[in-house]
Order: sequence, then structure tokens, then C-alpha cells
Amino acid sequence: MSIIEKAANRFEQTKGDLTPLSKIPLKSPSEQNSKIINDHRARNSDRKTIAQVEINLANLHQLGMITPDQGKTLAAQEFRGIKRSLIQNAFIKGAGAIHHGNLIMVTSALPQEGKTFCAINLAMSIATEMDHTVLLIDADVARPSVLRTLGLKSAVGLMDILLDEKLDLADAMFKTNVDTLRILPAGTSHRHATELLTSQAMSSLLNEIANRYPDRIVIFDSPPLLPTTEARVLASQMGQIVMVVEAEVTTQHAVKEALRQIETNPHINLVYNKSKAFAGGSNYGYGYYD
Ligand SMILES: Nc1ncnc2c1ncn2[C@@H]1O[C@H](COP(=O)(O)OP(=O)(O)O)[C@@H](O)[C@H]1O
Ligand SMILES: [Mg+2]
Repeated sequence: MSIIEKAANRFEQTKGDLTPLSKIPLKSPSEQNSKIINDHRARNSDRKTIAQVEINLANLHQLGMITPDQGKTLAAQEFRGIKRSLIQNAFIKGAGAIHHGNLIMVTSALPQEGKTFCAINLAMSIATEMDHTVLLIDADVARPSVLRTLGLKSAVGLMDILLDEKLDLADAMFKTNVDTLRILPAGTSHRHATELLTSQAMSSLLNEIANRYPDRIVIFDSPPLLPTTEARVLASQMGQIVMVVEAEVTTQHAVKEALRQIETNPHINLVYNKSKAFAGGSNYGYGYYD
């Protein structure tokens, strides 16, 4: 049976390593409630220390997303299950080691299925509970939304590093008020953004990240697979893939097509997102949300 058929079968049965993730009540993040501690736009290539941004964690918690010290939320509970095998796979040593195993791409067939939601929650979950440093990279350069979702202002990032060889990763990366969480924003919007994502410079950067930070989990919020070609190029360079499937919205055809594009990667985890299966009956105080 091909990996597509296996995954599609799991998708139909909603079991195996397809993890259901409940739909959680969210409000819009408030931009006023967060602040940039060091003005990153003032940074230059001489930047010695990594700048820091402050995420308003209370606001994020109110949105139903994972924050430190809030262990009992529904999201925290569900992401524990999702991250376990990802972390194990990331750090296998010796013969079974996965090439670029610590590079984890979060993607989906189509826009709006929950890639950013899952990428941020996964990053926060691993950073706050597993004692691993996490680098969250916004690689959905055509529709970047990591910073906006965290309530942070736009900043230099991935695109700028790819375009300017004098810029180093550390020049665009931010520390956050979550000690073990770093962020690399998508950066300045660029009309050749999608080409840059599939460029040799991007491949080199991925190698550099994997080699320079072998102890870190690196999570990529990525473009969707079906409308674009860059996501599949990215996927071919990632150790592991989390594919988000929107419950009752993504068609089986779309899932199969998307899986076909990443078939060469043997480490694919499906997340069945916005599922109502557990929301109504959970012990965490969430009801049904349409
Ligand atoms: N499990 C979830 N529960 C509640 N809302 C969700 C969930 N996953 C995603 N969303 C919401 O769905 C919308 C699309 O999610 P987003 O992560 O931005 O999608 P994508 O990055 O795939 O385009 C956002 O408003 C997001 O907050
Ligand atoms: Mg997104």
C-alpha cells in the first residue's frame, strides 16, 4: 500500500497517527498589547546581540493558545500528543537518524486550514514543556501571519536573509519572553518571495540551521501545498512534516493530492484540525463552536 493510501485510510478512519485537534474559541489578537523591546528595524549587520520581542502571553492565553504555565488548556493537552513522536524523531542518533530530523514543516493542502495556529501552538508547546529550544520560522512568505497572530509588529526576517548575503540568521532572529522560544519572521515582502523560498540560498540556509542548531526543534509555518509549488520543494528538504487537515472542510481528494506531493518524505503526521469530536465532551470547559 502506498503512503498516500495508508495516510488517506487513516484520514478516513481518523485514527493511527492522525491526531484530532479541537476547534478552540479564538478572538483576534490585540496588537496594542505587545511591544518590541529592542527596535529591530534599527538593527544592522553589526548587531551583536539577538534582539528580543515580548509576546503578550496573557492575550495569547485568552485566545485559547498555548502559553507557559497554563498546562491544563485543551490546546496544551492536545499538542502534547502531537509533539511526542516529532521530538523523538528529531533526535534519533546513529543508524536510524533522520536527515534534518529537527526541521519540521507545518503545511496543509489549502490556505486557512490552521497551519499558523498549529505551528505557533506546537512551538509554544515544545518550548514550554520539553526543555528544548525552539526556533519558529515564518516561511509562508506570501501570507505571513506568525507575527500578527502573536500580536507583534512586522520585522526583518527570512526574505531579508535570503536576499542580503551580509545578513546572518542572528541578525533577523528574535528572542522572546519565553526563554526557549526564538522567532524568525518572514521578513520584508518581496515580489519574488516564492522563488526565493525554492532558491539555492534557502537550501543553504536550511543546511546551516540544521547543522548550527542540531539540538533545536525548528518549526516552519509553511505555504499550502496545492496552490503553490514552493511548499513541495521545501517539503523535500524537511526531516518531518505535519500536515493539517481541516475537519469537514478539506476534501479527501485535496488530502490525497497534497500527500502525493510530499510522498517522498516518510515522516508525515496528519493533524485533523478544528475537529468537533472532543470539544463538546472534553473536561477542559470548551463547548461546541461553529
Ligand atoms: N483548532 C482551532 N480552533 C479554533 N480556531 C482555529 C483552529 N485552527 C485554526 N483556527 C483558526 O482558523 C483560521 C485559519 O487558521 P490559520 O492558522 O491562520 O490558517 P493557515 O495558516 O493554514 O492559513 C484562523 O482564524 C485560526 O485562528
Ligand atoms: Mg498561515
